[in-house]
Amino acid sequence: MSQLVSLVRDGNVALIVIDNPPVNALSSAVRAGILECFRAARDDAQVAAIVFLGAGRTFVAGADITEFGKPPQPPVLIDVIAEIDQSPKPTVAAMHGTPLGGGFEVTLACHFRVAAPGTRVGLPEIKLGLFPAAGGTQRLPRLVGMDKAAAMILSGEQMPAEEALEIGLIDEIVAGDLRAGAVAFAKRVVAEKRPLRRVSELDDKIAPLRADPARFDEIMASHMKRGRGLDAPKAVVESMRQTLTLDVEEASRNDRDTFVRLIPGEQSRGQRHIFFAEREAAKVPGVSKDVKARAVRRAAVIGAGTMGGGIAMCFANAGIPVTVVETSGEALKRGLDTVAKNYKTSVTRGSLTAEEMERRIGLMSGATDMDAVKDADLVIEAVFEEMDIKRQIFGALDRITGPDAVLATNTSYLDVNAIARETQRPASVLGMHFFSPANVMRLLEVVRGERTSPEALATAMAVGRRLGKVPVVVGVCHGFVGNRMLRARSIEAERLLIEGALPQEVDGALTEFGFPMGPFAMGDLAGLDVSWRMRKAQGTRAEIADALCEAGRFGQKTGKGFYLYEAGARTGKPDPEVEAMIVGVSKRLGVTRRPIGRQEILERLVYPMVNEGARILEEGIATRPGDIDVIWIYGYGFPAWRGGPMFYADTVGLKTICERLSALATASGDKRHEPAALLQRLAAEGRGFASLDEKKSA
Ligand SMILES: NC(=O)c1ccc[n+]([C@@H]2O[C@H](COP(=O)([O-])OP(=O)(O)OC[C@H]3O[C@@H](n4cnc5c(N)ncnc54)[C@H](O)[C@@H]3O)[C@@H](O)[C@H]2O)c1
Repeated sequence: MSQLVSLVRDGNVALIVIDNPPVNALSSAVRAGILECFRAARDDAQVAAIVFLGAGRTFVAGADITEFGKPPQPPVLIDVIAEIDQSPKPTVAAMHGTPLGGGFEVTLACHFRVAAPGTRVGLPEIKLGLFPAAGGTQRLPRLVGMDKAAAMILSGEQMPAEEALEIGLIDEIVAGDLRAGAVAFAKRVVAEKRPLRRVSELDDKIAPLRADPARFDEIMASHMKRGRGLDAPKAVVESMRQTLTLDVEEASRNDRDTFVRLIPGEQSRGQRHIFFAEREAAKVPGVSKDVKARAVRRAAVIGAGTMGGGIAMCFANAGIPVTVVETSGEALKRGLDTVAKNYKTSVTRGSLTAEEMERRIGLMSGATDMDAVKDADLVIEAVFEEMDIKRQIFGALDRITGPDAVLATNTSYLDVNAIARETQRPASVLGMHFFSPANVMRLLEVVRGERTSPEALATAMAVGRRLGKVPVVVGVCHGFVGNRMLRARSIEAERLLIEGALPQEVDGALTEFGFPMGPFAMGDLAGLDVSWRMRKAQGTRAEIADALCEAGRFGQKTGKGFYLYEAGARTGKPDPEVEAMIVGVSKRLGVTRRPIGRQEILERLVYPMVNEGARILEEGIATRPGDIDVIWIYGYGFPAWRGGPMFYADTVGLKTICERLSALATASGDKRHEPAALLQRLAAEGRGFASLDEKKSA
């Protein structure tokens, strides 16, 4: 028998134990082992029932995705599953940990499913631009109904065992020893001569839809959300539609063909790239596995404004007590009231229980005296973006906190090294740059100063993960990685307006590309006054945005910005007044306006970002192109299925990007558009950014 899968006996029950650490991925050897053990158990007259079990920390957590894109090695998963499906003896899947993807599809071929408390099941393939083609789209709707199946498959989200039990996805939650519990369950099935419930043959949930196929389309439409128009969600719908006309075996054969077509597609390649890049980002040069993160038992946040409040929520959500410090009782109350209001909204929406809200609010305490942070293991400063105030605060924190405390700033642009120099412990100072809204956005730029120690970095990374964030280490420069690239885009966005485009055309090019919103709608949402104040402080100008602010148009908060917002509306309408204003600016600057096409808009917004990304890599501000991609996907809404700006650049071809940038540099006279040396070198060598990534992803 294969070493990865073993067959053991417990009385008349055969146990097939899958032991392929760390997550029992379904490699070709595991698939072969399962099949071999299953056949042996099926054909053994002494065996009355068969239990599938995972060794270690989880049941099979999915396919071995390093095998994707390689020629399939037999036996393929659908064949293994088809054989288990036809078992003449009762089969029981005993689940713990995270039975996901192909692993979960194996359990759907069993007659019964039991799970340990805390198990989370799911079909996350959609997140890799794929779909559960080993019967998931066929069996799940037959078991739990089309609506629940579509919700699970199209979101890719995991479901806790308790909920799975409620909807009939599993038969029992086994408290205590899972193996013993599952064997006892199997023995009971045998003793009671329970009928074998073959999921592939269930029809009661499908029959009503067969009589009313329009209902099928309605259900699917309600779960499509942002996936509309993408290859994988489309494949899910067509695959699930087959339940109305075909049996599982026939449909599965079609599914396999579709799956094989999706794998080499750009969308799936982009999403798989991000999957690997996110894991690579966790590896920080100079921070080996032996470096121990310091324990963070208690945190503190300085400033309870937009960011401070959100950051404090992150800690409370993760169960970490947090102290919030403000300048006055009034400011503190305002901040904490906003936090309470946010939590109440979640309770009203049903995503949080009132009890949990109380528990989280109970983990927060407020103070107006900095001494209150003296016991904190980690302090995050989120006060106004002003160097003098930040310097003062870090001087004070250095005096007040214990010698091992890590001190972080949430600054967006300021020099983290200069802030660190205000302390006697620059090794324990770094940036933890959250994104707004801080309790929602998953990106965390961890800014490594010139003196930041590996322990401090490891601590920030570990805390970031505890808060549910995707932490990425970046170096010190104006705007770090994300905002520095954003700036390159914003400058060009304004130029496009001056040359002849309108806000809705610029935004439209980006939403068509896949961003949730374009730069002008985003500016209106964030408030145009914020960057206006920053430009005034720096003595710089953005002609059109400044003109809007001078006319009192600050964006959504004033009902007017680049767009017009009718009473409480969240999406704006084009405003003729803004158009007149833009035309006026062009005229004043002596620019003859011309129509600008979508493609030109897109290239002029995205390629300068790629160019800035290349400089960021040259300067070592980001470690790998994949880190930049992760930053843009989790922090700025870059469409994941395009793999991030650097991955996207590779798909366009770096030679093309260089040529366009050179042309843009000549036309605009802006030297920043000259292609970066790295970009030129890679283009000349016929390489892409992917060739710089340590690990190949596809
Ligand atoms: N707003 C964003 O989108 C965003 C995103 C990332 C980072 N940041 C950065 O986060 C920081 C905070 O930004 P914000 O948008 O939350 O600002 P904000 O104006 O909403 O909040 C700042 C808060 O700090 C308080 N404060 C000022 N001085 C203080 C002091 N000495 N002690 C205690 N509290 C003090 C103020 O009373 C105010 O409540 C800035 O450095 C900003 O650059 C902002």
